[in-house]
Amino acid sequence: MNDDTVLMERRGALAILTLNAPERRNAIDLAMVQGLHARLGELEGDETLAAVVLTGAGDKAFAAGADIAQLKERKAVDAFAAINSSLFKRVEDFPVPVIAAVRGWCLGGGCELAIACDLRVVGEGAKLGQPEVGLGIIPAAGGTYRLPRLIGLGRARELVYTGRIVDAAEAERIGLVNRVVPDAEVLDAALALAEEIAKNGSLAVRLAKRTMNALARPNEAMALSMESTAQAVLFESDDKHARMQAFLDRKKSR
Ligand code: COA
Repeated sequence: MNDDTVLMERRGALAILTLNAPERRNAIDLAMVQGLHARLGELEGDETLAAVVLTGAGDKAFAAGADIAQLKERKAVDAFAAINSSLFKRVEDFPVPVIAAVRGWCLGGGCELAIACDLRVVGEGAKLGQPEVGLGIIPAAGGTYRLPRLIGLGRARELVYTGRIVDAAEAERIGLVNRVVPDAEVLDAALALAEEIAKNGSLAVRLAKRTMNALARPNEAMALSMESTAQAVLFESDDKHARMQAFLDRKKSR
């Protein structure tokens, strides 16, 4: 594993994790999935940890989704392996709060990762959305389950069916993000929120997270399994291959 895929910095009781592939807008490939698992593993048992801030390198993106070149090759069996889904569930279940600090693009798997975090602080220029259906697939890393819980079924349906991307102001209005700050202040604002959390009883915050997660997730196993089944069908479809190839051809032509 390349240790540079996800950078880690400790600041007292806080940790900052940075998705580190700015040249491809921090698109999440397998190496990055493994890198983030490894970082979470390093932090998981640390009782001095109060919160984690998760961000993307550079100023253009938190993450522009799963890596489309890799997605194009994934088969039904990979959908059942739940590669991104298991990682995002690990983030959601992480013992301390995880705060997404978002600048720029936050799309597809990137948006699913952000909504698996406890809280989201975004810059004014952030753009968020679930454009998967345009690629012939669905947001199957917990998106169809978590998004409706966060913003309500009606709004989630609209975003998932249309693939429409929303700006920071709309994201705040519909409850997709907790707060919007100037782009240059995103990391500091997320850290300030993490510090506010860190002042409180560590065990109390950990148990508050656990309790709210447990209460907010009826039928989770069934929903995630349904999602993987739907994605398994889509991963084998001609439409998916054609749409993803069109994205990759556009890239070659530039
Ligand atoms: N997977 C793989 N590569 C990606 C990617 C993704 N999800 N998103 C961006 N990249 C790559 C581009 O192919 C490009 O690579 P290149 O420099 O080798 O050509 C590089 O990142 C920069 O992207 P580019 O499109 O030139 O940047 P931009 O700032 O003009 O546009 C986006 C940014 C995010 C709007 C655009 O890249 C995009 O639409 N990405 C796909 C978003 C998506 O559909 N995500 C859902 C996947 S499930």
